[in-house]
Amino acid sequence: MYTFAVKELLKKIQQLKKAKNAVIFAHNYQRPEVQDVADFVGDSFNLAQKGIETSADIIVFCGVNFMAETAKILAPNKKILMPALAAMCPMAGMVNVAKVRELKEAHPDAAVVCYVNTTADVKAECDICCTSANAVKIVNSLPNHEVIFVPDSNLAAYVAKNTDKKIIYPEGFCYVHSKILSEKVFAVKSAHPSAITLLHPECPPATLEYADKVLSTTGMVNFVKNSKEKEFIIGTEEGMIYVLQKHAPDKTFYCVGGQCIQQKKITLQNTYECLRDEKNEVTVDPEVAKKALSAIEKMLKFGRND
Ligand code: 13P
Ligand code: SF4
Repeated sequence: MYTFAVKELLKKIQQLKKAKNAVIFAHNYQRPEVQDVADFVGDSFNLAQKGIETSADIIVFCGVNFMAETAKILAPNKKILMPALAAMCPMAGMVNVAKVRELKEAHPDAAVVCYVNTTADVKAECDICCTSANAVKIVNSLPNHEVIFVPDSNLAAYVAKNTDKKIIYPEGFCYVHSKILSEKVFAVKSAHPSAITLLHPECPPATLEYADKVLSTTGMVNFVKNSKEKEFIIGTEEGMIYVLQKHAPDKTFYCVGGQCIQQKKITLQNTYECLRDEKNEVTVDPEVAKKALSAIEKMLKFGRND
């Protein structure tokens, strides 16, 4: 359990939340104590939805930059704060506006889908966004035969396997999921033959061959909660194990994923200081936000399919 110092910090944050009409949102990969102080913990899709629903004036966003930007675009009148502005998803930096325009010029008949792990200016260039919870559904809904998909080549390859459309994608990857290799999953599966294997679609295609189910992070929570099975191999960032244990304490999880150091830049201490001083406000250029909003809203209308 938590030390006296951590308990004191948790108490102070709770008091500040009340006094300032603030809420804390945390992604599933956040540290356990950050998850415990949060009002809501979820995946990229849930977090985007919750930003619109909350009546709070301030959202302290414990996740990576693109998630906080998405919240700001959806709720421009709220103050969105990030405990660590340096918590940037490297994958979101692997595509820029120039690259998307170049792809559009080369493939003028293609629709452009961007994973939510992108910057706001890239979203502004796209027709529609998606998350890992609805990528296949969204691509299949488009009238175009050709679809440009940025920036994750592993997710793009997964989509390509599940659609008749032609998927055009540049190189881009998550350094955490791309290290979840098939050999590792095979070894853990061999050691635990009755375990069900749940993998995130950011894993390489050869790894996904071993999946019983390919799911977003909250998709994994829902699957585990509704399953009669007792053992699961989890192929995503290691913070997910705390979430799963909380939801299904009687079940056993074998993690094959590593750590996202960007997500871990958020701590209880910087969450406290951020809310206390109302610092690190996230802003998005209003013109960019207007264009990006359309791509995000279209995605939210589709819902999730995992
Ligand atoms: P989820 O939307 O599935 O939580 O994924 C976000 C992410 O960053 C995965 O690495
Ligand atoms: Fe980005 Fe990968 Fe970290 Fe998710 S786990 S935030 S995709 S670097």
